[in-house]
Amino acid sequence: MLVSAKEMLTKAKEGHYAVGQFNINNLEWTKAILLTAQELNSPVILGVSEGAGKYMCGYKTVVGMVNGMLEELNITVPVALHLDHGSYEGALKCIEAGFSSVMFDGSHYPIEENIEKTKALVALTTEKGLSLEAEVGSIGGEEDGVIGAGECADPNECKMIADLGVTMLAAGIGNIHGKYPANWPGLSFETLEVVQQKTGSMPLVLHGGTGIPEDMIKKAISLGVSKINVNTECQLSFAAATRKYIEEGKDQQGKGFDPRKLLAPGFEAIKATVKEKMELFGSVNKA
Ligand code: 13P
Repeated sequence: MLVSAKEMLTKAKEGHYAVGQFNINNLEWTKAILLTAQELNSPVILGVSEGAGKYMCGYKTVVGMVNGMLEELNITVPVALHLDHGSYEGALKCIEAGFSSVMFDGSHYPIEENIEKTKALVALTTEKGLSLEAEVGSIGGEEDGVIGAGECADPNECKMIADLGVTMLAAGIGNIHGKYPANWPGLSFETLEVVQQKTGSMPLVLHGGTGIPEDMIKKAISLGVSKINVNTECQLSFAAATRKYIEEGKDQQGKGFDPRKLLAPGFEAIKATVKEKMELFGSVNKA
């Protein structure tokens, strides 16, 4: 059964580790992430962007696929199904479809409007026992065609949003989605420290987990980050393994064209990436 992300993140914050959110794109992605979480006895959050939701034929299809896998694969570790960077309408749709967690990204609105919309969703998600992630200070990079600059959040605004009763808060600290450019100055730990001071026990979320050096990840966790989002890195490892299979001509040998064979190396590559991240984040055996 899907669970809210609240308990797993409260435990992570107290235990000084982070739970990974891995974004899903299809059946292979979902199966790879769920099986790895089970093998490592780790809690996990499956992230679904609005674009990926559309690609997978809508939120109801996603809920059906994930619930089916939890049962058929005997997944017993805590799993949350979470809308990533949702609009207000998208969040309502996911709640209706059976997601156990949603993110409302109101970071592009003036703070008053972000507060107003987040507040309405706090009421709704609390009533239904679901978790809610809010965002202050937009995360840079490109996601689903939206390009942000990688701002640092205003810690006072973070406190205003945290005080509304959200479950977790994504605060921009110079992190961006996708690969980091060579001249990236790194995470702003000064901002993270002040945000943590102002928001106390609130689990903080680090987006743009792909390509952040290990020491920075560890320092961010020590300063209060309890959820780390990873998307691009699984896509890169899937693509590299699939490219290798085809370049070696394996799709032209025997029944190598069978999708169950053709997609297998990519599937294994996602599993390896998820394992590496769970070990780095410290969530192994924390289910
Ligand atoms: P990356 O694609 O950079 O790993 O970021 C993922 C993310 O933050 C999803 O919200």
